[in-house]
Amino acid sequence: MIDVQDLVVSYGTATALDHITLTVGKGEMVALLGPNGAGKSTLANTLAGLLRPASGSVRVDGRLALIPEGRQLFPDLSVADNLALGGWRSGRRDPSTVYELLPRLAELAGRRAGVLSGGEQQMVAFGRALMSEPDALVVDELSLGLAPGVTADLAAHLAELNRSHGLTVLLIEQNARLAFDLCSRAYVLESGRLVTEGECARLADDPRVAGAYLGGAIT
Ligand SMILES: Nc1ncnc2c1ncn2[C@@H]1O[C@H](COP(=O)(O)OP(=O)(O)OP(=O)(O)O)[C@@H](O)[C@H]1O
Ligand SMILES: [Mg+2]
Repeated sequence: MIDVQDLVVSYGTATALDHITLTVGKGEMVALLGPNGAGKSTLANTLAGLLRPASGSVRVDGRLALIPEGRQLFPDLSVADNLALGGWRSGRRDPSTVYELLPRLAELAGRRAGVLSGGEQQMVAFGRALMSEPDALVVDELSLGLAPGVTADLAAHLAELNRSHGLTVLLIEQNARLAFDLCSRAYVLESGRLVTEGECARLADDPRVAGAYLGGAIT
């Protein structure tokens, strides 16, 4: 579904992604971990077509939507208008399916996006991404700045969409525990290079991964 081969992305002379190869199968949920500045958002934005590869290839079967880092809502527009913008490219205007999946958004529809809480704003960004009826979703930092309960709620929605609709997900996360709970496989990116990848269960036992991302081994 998502097939990245030998991808190089640069900002001017600075290489942000250095020969990355990564795949996400149809209906799979895969995590992408890595410290600040590793290149995670660069990969997300390249998958979404916002950045152009210097070399290598990015292939997506079907429609891909991005929940960008920091939500990137239009704060002065209503929730309903923010959602409508998500459906703009696909010509989809009716938010009723999104309201069914995320009923809280129906209650918030008339509110200005800028006055919502962080969790509510992330819910709007989620709904906006779903408006295009994506086959694949890239989530750039689901839990950033959110209380654990709010994150768990969004994570449950994500897992449910994966289960019931077969939504393919690439989940970028600082919270490795959350990522390992949700995903079957993970990639670890550091300084623009993939340093390890594999089944989450195996990675959680890897002392380097556990030390850097889990605050010690999972017991
Ligand atoms: N627009 C830009 N112009 C120049 N350099 C950039 C730009 N965006 C990102 N970079 C650089 O590219 C590298 C990767 O940045 P990126 O935002 O992809 O990292 P990240 O893994 O998403 O980090 P974080 O966890 O902080 O979100 C960093 O060194 C960053 O400074
Ligand atoms: Mg980022």
